[in-house]
Amino acid sequence: MTAEWAGAAPLLEMRGIGKSFPGVRVLQGVDLTLHRGEVLALLGENGAGKSTLIKMLAGVHRPDEGQIAIDGEPVDLSGPDASLAAGIGVIHQEFQLVPGLTPWENIFLGREQTRWLVDRRGERERAERLFEQLGAEIPLDTPCGELSVAQQQLVEIAKALSQDVRLLVMDEPSAALSPEEVPRLLAMVEELKRRGIGVIYISHRLEEIFEIADRVLVLRDGEVVGSGATAGLTRGRLIEWMVGRSIEREYPKQWHPRGNVRLRVEGLRRGTAVRGVGFEVHAGEVLGLTGLIGAGRTEVARLLFGADRADAGEVWLDGRRLQLGSPARAIAAGLCLLTEDRKHQGLVLGAGVLENFGLPNLEEFSGGGWLWGGRERRAFDGHAERLRIRLANPAQPARQLSGGNQQKVVLAKWLQRQAGVLIFDEPTRGIDVGAKYEIYQLINDLAGEGKAIVMISSDLPEVLGMSDRILVMHAGRVTGEITDVAHATQQQVMELAVA
Ligand SMILES: Nc1ncnc2c1ncn2[C@@H]1O[C@H](COP(=O)(O)OP(=O)(O)OP(=O)(O)O)[C@@H](O)[C@H]1O
Ligand SMILES: [Mg+2]
Repeated sequence: MTAEWAGAAPLLEMRGIGKSFPGVRVLQGVDLTLHRGEVLALLGENGAGKSTLIKMLAGVHRPDEGQIAIDGEPVDLSGPDASLAAGIGVIHQEFQLVPGLTPWENIFLGREQTRWLVDRRGERERAERLFEQLGAEIPLDTPCGELSVAQQQLVEIAKALSQDVRLLVMDEPSAALSPEEVPRLLAMVEELKRRGIGVIYISHRLEEIFEIADRVLVLRDGEVVGSGATAGLTRGRLIEWMVGRSIEREYPKQWHPRGNVRLRVEGLRRGTAVRGVGFEVHAGEVLGLTGLIGAGRTEVARLLFGADRADAGEVWLDGRRLQLGSPARAIAAGLCLLTEDRKHQGLVLGAGVLENFGLPNLEEFSGGGWLWGGRERRAFDGHAERLRIRLANPAQPARQLSGGNQQKVVLAKWLQRQAGVLIFDEPTRGIDVGAKYEIYQLINDLAGEGKAIVMISSDLPEVLGMSDRILVMHAGRVTGEITDVAHATQQQVMELAVA
């Protein structure tokens, strides 16, 4: 039970919240209550309205209808300052760090003016302690723009913690973290709970919900479709609430006959990040590539794709030597990479969704000086239906899509390309359970067509559930290979990952 006495008002009460954007109704009649020292999980499919709801607590959006009260007192959260003054801290899904500033400068940004003298050394030391508490190793003086996605996420968390908040909202805080960092994050949430702070926790990873949340609230199409104490709920029930149907097998793995070697990598190196990596992937095979953040998985993918220059290494695609160092050459040779940092490498946020989809596929949709808009549109619609991409219309700027739907657009874009070897870097990060299932089916189909797939993932149940073979990396090297995936355990993978 929460530390509450009879008659006391809850920490937060949202009543009858409604919100529309031009042409779309996003939230309707949403009620949400949060008590002190309680963790409430806010769940729902991509585009269900979760981020929109919590942006009202951050003072980013104002409700069209409904009221918000803190400790029983109505509040008007007209902007970020009002929100902070009310004791609300929000960790947004999209990072809001200034890329040119260091982690500690970002943490204390905007608060310097309130003091007589900026105590830079003191701030740096406070930041150092915060990261220690988080068990995170962050290079304190490196500009945030050069940090990995996971490191940036940790800076966001430290920033929110540095503000003395009574209510902390976390929008997919674990999405970018690795298997070893997630338990630390959850332990930290436990600690906040003990201090009586109320937490709203958004995540698409159900294991975490059962571990951390006291109650859940599920949104579908902007309305509350279910809520209750986590203790009385099953995984199946939550999934049904979220996607409106049940999913029998979360990992619908299919096995295909193994064909010829399509990708062969030998002695791949770059500085200390990748120290001699070699492997093969066959037609029809899904090779899971896992390890901790910084193990070098993404770097291997970037070297193969030519996004970074390798110091050494040889790569063959279908037996033909690939000249490394140019993404255009890699694409022409039939190798595709779905990047992990979709926000920066995947989408032009100001451009329309259809335009984004068409960009890398121009040759396919144009001919004789014309762009065949109809063909492009039909191809897009096919992917949109399958991946359940939620958007008002295809011309809508990519920026306006929910986080998960943006990722689905990037996925659609690369799926359209005819490639024999596909590298997916964290393909289901931030994606809801229903769409995850569809992505797994797509991976099955691609493997069934004889493509070779490398699936980089930090989600161990996913790696174990969808791979034919698993490679584990640590500190730039392959530290283990698991061939009997059906009998492998998460523990086994973790042991290789910290080797
Ligand atoms: N500024 C905007 N203009 C128009 N539509 C918007 C805008 N912001 C959000 N939307 C729409 O509101 C809906 C809800 O988006 P929201 O970001 O709240 O979803 P979400 O539940 O957080 O999803 P995800 O799990 O993908 O993060 C989406 O359909 C989105 O396209
Ligand atoms: Mg969201």
